[in-house]
Amino acid sequence: MSYYVIEGGKPLKGRVRVAGAKNAATKQIVASLLTGEDVVLSNVPRIGDTDVTLNVCKSIGLNYKWQDTTTLKLSTPKILTPEVPLAFSGINRIPILLLGPLLHRYGKAIIPMLGGCDIGERPVDFHVQALEKLGAQIVYQEGRYYAVADKLHGTMIELPYPSVGATENILLSSVLAQGRTVIKNAAIEPEVIDLVMMLQKMGAIIFVDTDRTIEIEGVDELYGAAHTVINDRIEAASFAVAGVITGGDVIVEGAEQHHMLTFLNKLRQIGANFEVLDKGIRFYHPGGALKPIALETDVHPGFMTDWQQPLVMLMTQIEGLSVVHETVYEKRFGYTEDLKRMGAEIQLYKTCLGEKSCRFKSLDHAHSCVIKGSTPLHAADITIPDLRAGFSYLIAAAVAKGVSKVRGIQYVERGYSNILNKFQSLDANMRLVEE
Ligand code: EPU
Repeated sequence: MSYYVIEGGKPLKGRVRVAGAKNAATKQIVASLLTGEDVVLSNVPRIGDTDVTLNVCKSIGLNYKWQDTTTLKLSTPKILTPEVPLAFSGINRIPILLLGPLLHRYGKAIIPMLGGCDIGERPVDFHVQALEKLGAQIVYQEGRYYAVADKLHGTMIELPYPSVGATENILLSSVLAQGRTVIKNAAIEPEVIDLVMMLQKMGAIIFVDTDRTIEIEGVDELYGAAHTVINDRIEAASFAVAGVITGGDVIVEGAEQHHMLTFLNKLRQIGANFEVLDKGIRFYHPGGALKPIALETDVHPGFMTDWQQPLVMLMTQIEGLSVVHETVYEKRFGYTEDLKRMGAEIQLYKTCLGEKSCRFKSLDHAHSCVIKGSTPLHAADITIPDLRAGFSYLIAAAVAKGVSKVRGIQYVERGYSNILNKFQSLDANMRLVEE
């Protein structure tokens, strides 16, 4: 397996351009299945998860062509089969989102069990219950969900938690349903809103209220459309931290202030500098000491769970005690073990170390942590456990004294395009070793 070799200790300086958001583009590829007409998506990231999603959709009838490096032409004149092959089980979270398009266009769907990073249980009970309320009959048997529906019909669905995936699944299932669907306690992440915008261009009628209510008025048909995927706010925040933590100065082209308000507030509390430019944001270390902070992850507009890992990395380099309460996933600190081997001092806690108690309060999950900085990191041979931890490992290696080997790089390649080139363009001492 290939791995990266990184010699740390060099300030990262220069410009990088973030790609389109993985968590928007993949859902929009699925949305194209709702029409037989052509859909053109621009700013699509060239990453492993895009390829997996294209292959999942191709298996049921999608035709696609890359028109240039980031523009996709998609068309599904006919659904060829309602069954997503079992081979796609366990790879990513996309297959469950095919329920709606398949039920509308075929009356039937067979979906293999889901995958994704090992960061918690990640059940799909909200998805299944919502689809049942919309009129689908679903049974689970031997690793597959079997769903049938003559016609989905509008209904009221109150989500127990503002799940991104469940909200998207309901959107994809209700736009062509008969009548009106109301989602209460919906997720309103920018990636969800970007899906709403694409669906509206395709002919859907969707109202988004200020109180997490989304109302969908079903239409009879959707049409072809062209849409540009929003930029990746996770990649943007990750490069921001890479610049600050190495004492460098990085312009992240495509970083969008309105999608990163909470992240920028936290950076300011820490004392790191940023400057909003016309086409991006410049991030840099001000010199002198940064300040420790307390941080709680949450659903949008809170601090994203996917920004947590780079921030924890930054906290290891700040003098004093920083505290993080992870409230979205119950198992998202697994990666801290390797950081500890590199010299970080991080203690995990099962209690809620935050302003509020979260869903994991009385469960047995280590979902809070205290980071004692500043600790010099030393190089190590580390293996990436999941996608977002992966970027933090690259940052850790870029900060650590000596030469680190970072393995498990297929995880980062699933979610970040041209990651090696981007680090190299910031003058990182990083190379790929192919084995
Ligand atoms: N949940 C349930 N039941 C469900 C659905 C969710 O209990 O039926 C729980 C989950 O277990 C979790 C919480 O609700 O504790 C939030 O899950 P959500 O459904 O919002 O997450 P997701 O749709 O599976 C997406 C992103 C994640 C991102 C989260 C939160 C994709 C493909 N994934 O996951 O991104 O962290 O929203 O914003 O869009 C990543 O990109 O690396 C990643 C993990």
